[in-house]
Amino acid sequence: MNKKVSKIGVLTSGGDAPGMNAAIRAVVRTGIYYGLDVYGIVRGYTGMIENDIFKMESRSVANIIQRGGTILKTARCKEFFEPEGRKKAYETLKKIGIDGLVVIGGDGSFRGAQKFSTEFDIPCVGLPGTIDKDMAGTDFTIGFDTAVNTAIQAIDKIRDTADAHDRLFIIEVMGRDSGYIALHSGVGTGAENILIPEHKTDLNDIINSLLEKEKRKKLVNLLVVAEGGEYGGANEVARVIKSRMPNADIKVCILGHIQRGGAPSALDRLIASRLGYAAVDTLIKGDKVNTMIGIVNNDLHYTPLDHAVKAEHTIDPEWLKIIKILAS
Ligand code: ADP
Ligand code: F6P
Repeated sequence: MNKKVSKIGVLTSGGDAPGMNAAIRAVVRTGIYYGLDVYGIVRGYTGMIENDIFKMESRSVANIIQRGGTILKTARCKEFFEPEGRKKAYETLKKIGIDGLVVIGGDGSFRGAQKFSTEFDIPCVGLPGTIDKDMAGTDFTIGFDTAVNTAIQAIDKIRDTADAHDRLFIIEVMGRDSGYIALHSGVGTGAENILIPEHKTDLNDIINSLLEKEKRKKLVNLLVVAEGGEYGGANEVARVIKSRMPNADIKVCILGHIQRGGAPSALDRLIASRLGYAAVDTLIKGDKVNTMIGIVNNDLHYTPLDHAVKAEHTIDPEWLKIIKILAS
């Protein structure tokens, strides 16, 4: 490999996601393997501004591949939105001699990285780390698979009690701007329907379908609602349904941050390890920097950071048809 960087920094930023530790581990061990110094930046861009940075050794990442959260901690850093904040961050990196950066985070973190890499001569590589999977240019994001599995395990348990009482449960999953967790957990648990930010679903259609099912004594129903859905979350959906179905026994369950924690799934560990390795490889080769590295059709896929932050993720509307058919 053609070595163009000698000291690299790695940080996690925005919402944490299971598998971030596996990615950090891969960055550190690959960097050290290729003779680089690797620095851990604590609390995302805040650590860059405040010089909360330490040199990492191979042992620094021992025993973390199986842990959720992030050993580097994460933060939302207001100062980094401003040019002065980013300049301070640059000065810190320069002082230490860091000449390449791996940012593990979501689209907001990449917006920051994109600005930073345009303003200063420090190449950046982004790895998609978010449970929301709301990113174009990759089939996977680190943490999504674990979050979906967590949601599915919880919804299966809810189904047991729903069945015992003939209840309708409205379950809210995470996804401020993304319906992927709702889609995957809804399909995976045989939900009656899902409500997601990407597509309009007429609540009246859902209510009519529930009324029809009530007539034929199909009383156990699960609706999975993304928190960012157009009706404003599970409580609001429940209120509207109750107004049309006063006799229905309706319960709401908000899964919340339980979806962000826990041991990463096998898939998340695998993609995090692969992407962490690829990030260092990319910084060393130097020809595809200032990109987000994703995986598309099982190949590494490099999306320039300025595209990565603009491109909208999409959900095929046919999924909504599939869910309805399978729940009939
Ligand atoms: P995520 O990366 O999970 O989408 P956020 O949207 O909260 O999380 O972004 C994480 C951090 O990235 C922000 O707190 C901020 O420091 C930085 N960031 C986000 N958007 C921008 C932006 N437009 N310009 C500069 N920095 C940004
Ligand atoms: O990580 C993404 C996400 O889980 C969103 O789906 C959710 O709205 C948001 O984070 C909440 O994050 P926080 O509670 O850290 O603000």
